[in-house]
Amino acid sequence: MSFFQSILDLLEGKLGLFNFSGTSLNDLGVDLGTVNTLVCTANKGVVLREPSVVSIDTSTKPSTVVEVGLAARDMIGRTPSHIKAIRPLREGVIAEFEWAEVMLRRFIDKVIGDQGFFQGHPGRIVIGLPSGVTEVERRAVGDAAYASGARIVNLIDEPMAAAIGANMPVEKPTGSMIVDIGGGTTEIAVLSLNGLVVTKSLRVAGDQLNQNIQDHMKAKHNIAIGERTAEEIKIQLGSAFPTDDVDDTDEMEVRGLNLETGLPDTITVNTLEIRECLHDTLMEMVVGVKEVLEETPPELAADIVDRGIVLTGGGALLSGMDELLAKEVDVPIHIANDPLSCVVLGTEKLLNDPTYASILKTTEYDPRAYA
Ligand SMILES: Nc1ncnc2c1ncn2[C@@H]1O[C@H](COP(=O)(O)OP(=O)(O)OP(=O)(O)O)[C@@H](O)[C@H]1O
Ligand SMILES: [Mg+2]
Repeated sequence: MSFFQSILDLLEGKLGLFNFSGTSLNDLGVDLGTVNTLVCTANKGVVLREPSVVSIDTSTKPSTVVEVGLAARDMIGRTPSHIKAIRPLREGVIAEFEWAEVMLRRFIDKVIGDQGFFQGHPGRIVIGLPSGVTEVERRAVGDAAYASGARIVNLIDEPMAAAIGANMPVEKPTGSMIVDIGGGTTEIAVLSLNGLVVTKSLRVAGDQLNQNIQDHMKAKHNIAIGERTAEEIKIQLGSAFPTDDVDDTDEMEVRGLNLETGLPDTITVNTLEIRECLHDTLMEMVVGVKEVLEETPPELAADIVDRGIVLTGGGALLSGMDELLAKEVDVPIHIANDPLSCVVLGTEKLLNDPTYASILKTTEYDPRAYA
């Protein structure tokens, strides 16, 4: 470390180049999602929003990273044989998790470079992770964050961060219930007094809905479609419930590969058949919500019946998702503002708002604890 750097370190520590809550202006919040990664800084809000994708060149030994984020996603399904575009967090498999580490470091480095951080490295990094990840996976993420130069790393359960980002009163002695439907996991949680009271992490979410559409195309139309086409169908035509805004006869043209002829083919699909093929997966989510409610202590359950359940994550944007849940569980359902950003906005509030100081204290990741 240079003499100049040491002086800067000293200044930051002794003279307090900190914001009002005592966290450093170089602090970062990260939502490391299975589909999207978002990063915010303590004072500038969300500064990075990219797909959680890495493309790697397998012709080198060991394999090397070609692109991360948007550029890597555009390669999915379109790569030559030695380049692979992977989504390292898809199923939380540990072999892919190594690439998750690399991806996280690249994103953090990018933000640090773009923001011209005072000393070239972050102070604290708060990372939201699915509550269902294993200890090994938590360690991999915690270590990757330290390796990017952070002094303190906090690993926060995704539903806690999402609830804070959705402005729910998690610090109060009242029940707040959140359902975060992401790409890989649906996190269902009841929170009170800054803690998770009941929680359930289902490994079915938006990715599974895409898979349902791909399976349906094969079974009903004898056509193979890629993951991105399936997602387009879900977003354009998908719905969870027959609401007034949804016209069941709406159609869309879909291109894929005819499985009989092996040639490209175009078919037409309609709203109703897509809703039907999503039904079973959506009911798994409904059952998860019911189970969490059943396990919730009665006082908190009464709060939830009064205040309703808040939906976050990209799955909250599926048309009629709120109506389906409202009908099935008989509790008011509210979709959060900007559901795709709730987790990262929660990490931003954790960094900036002294209300959550106790959460920051109890969620610090200590790599020595595992040594
Ligand atoms: N308008 C929409 N309708 C339906 N689904 C949508 C819509 N917009 C986004 N999605 C879905 O939301 C999912 C991504 O949401 P999000 O960014 O919250 O996930 P994530 O945080 O990366 O995943 P996880 O929380 O499981 O780690 C994708 O499956 C995407 O298809
Ligand atoms: Mg998420």
